Amino acid sequence: MDNTERGTRGWVSQAVRRIERDFQRSADTHLMPLELPGFPGIAFYIKDESTHPTGSLKHRLARSLFLYALCNGWIRQGTTIVEASSGSTAVSEAYFARMLGLPFVAVVPRSTSSAKVALIEFYGGRCHYVESADQVYEEAQRLARECKGHYMDQFTYAERATDWRGNNNIAQSIFEQMGSEPHPVPAWIVLGAGTGGTSATIGRYIRYNGHATQLCVVDPENSVFVDYYAGRDPGVTAAGSSGVEGIGRPRVEPSFIPDVIDRMLRVPTAYSYAAMRLLATLTGRRFGGSTGTDFHGALQLACEMKAKAQTGSIVMLACDSGERYLDTYYDDEWMKANGHDLRAAMAALQAVCRTGVWVHGSAEGASRDEAGAAKGKEPRSAAPAMNGASSWSYAGT
Ligand SMILES: Cc1ncc(COP(=O)(O)O)c(C=O)c1O
Repeated sequence: MDNTERGTRGWVSQAVRRIERDFQRSADTHLMPLELPGFPGIAFYIKDESTHPTGSLKHRLARSLFLYALCNGWIRQGTTIVEASSGSTAVSEAYFARMLGLPFVAVVPRSTSSAKVALIEFYGGRCHYVESADQVYEEAQRLARECKGHYMDQFTYAERATDWRGNNNIAQSIFEQMGSEPHPVPAWIVLGAGTGGTSATIGRYIRYNGHATQLCVVDPENSVFVDYYAGRDPGVTAAGSSGVEGIGRPRVEPSFIPDVIDRMLRVPTAYSYAAMRLLATLTGRRFGGSTGTDFHGALQLACEMKAKAQTGSIVMLACDSGERYLDTYYDDEWMKANGHDLRAAMAALQAVCRTGVWVHGSAEGASRDEAGAAKGKEPRSAAPAMNGASSWSYAGT
């Protein structure tokens, strides 16, 4: 028995070339500077991943996953592609599936924004709904088995499908674009984790190149990553979805690599939304909720730097644009209906931007050393340890 069907290799080779040509036609994403009055000597940068052809950071992941699966022999002409996603990865994969003429099914939580669903369908994909985020995996596996298709499984393969040493990955792009800045090696890079693939790529790249940059991963409420980072219990779970689409997961994903992360911070949901809206007023650009989570983390780290009289640069990721969340995170009626009042969070964050001072009442972050010390402790529950601003206080409000 052999595995060399005539024609299959030819199709795969054409498919790879097609994806490479698409890459060749694409421009790199921008790195936008942001200055805040409360932080003289600290330069913020936003790596704007919303400008990819499919509108998010997940364009990079989808390209890598398709190439990985094609070169592994997992996708052939006519193979149905099935993916479990909170939306953005499915949008990008639908784009590549259409490019290759392959049927695409996205298994998404019912809460996925209507704008993302419309985009998946625009690219010819079909959405298959489950009630909550923790049901996507099994359902996607089942569907793929049933139709003899390929379950792409971003949560397992994200960390290995991307070449972390370079090859134009996001880390290489950031460091190259920072090259002529006053502080070219960032003190911090701040991002969230969905699969964990991007933090794995950036963390490995930093180590491979010997940079002094530290990697901070921000985690929303109702996600397990902070708890896993601190306690290393792989069985930790959270019910339902995080309040921030794209980041935070109900289980520890195989692509989440904790040892390349220097610090984790938990961000209350209302503060992610407020930071997202504040950033829109500061930049004139609307980004998604997860960018708000990043901005909140960046502000917290900047306050710490300022308190220690340090100067330097902080890079944060903007994963997608706010256009996908106009009827949710940017809609006051939606906020009210979902029990969020952003006024206190907004006032607090505005004061931080103005004064550069932040006092937090309880340590919600975990450093690698703290996490080491926490090993062997009772694992904490993934249920939100705080609500709203109760354990946070800001100076100058
Ligand atoms: C702000 C932000 N950072 C990072 C990520 C990383 O995603 P992943 O962990 O899947 O690479 C996301 C995903 O949506 C995001 O929104």
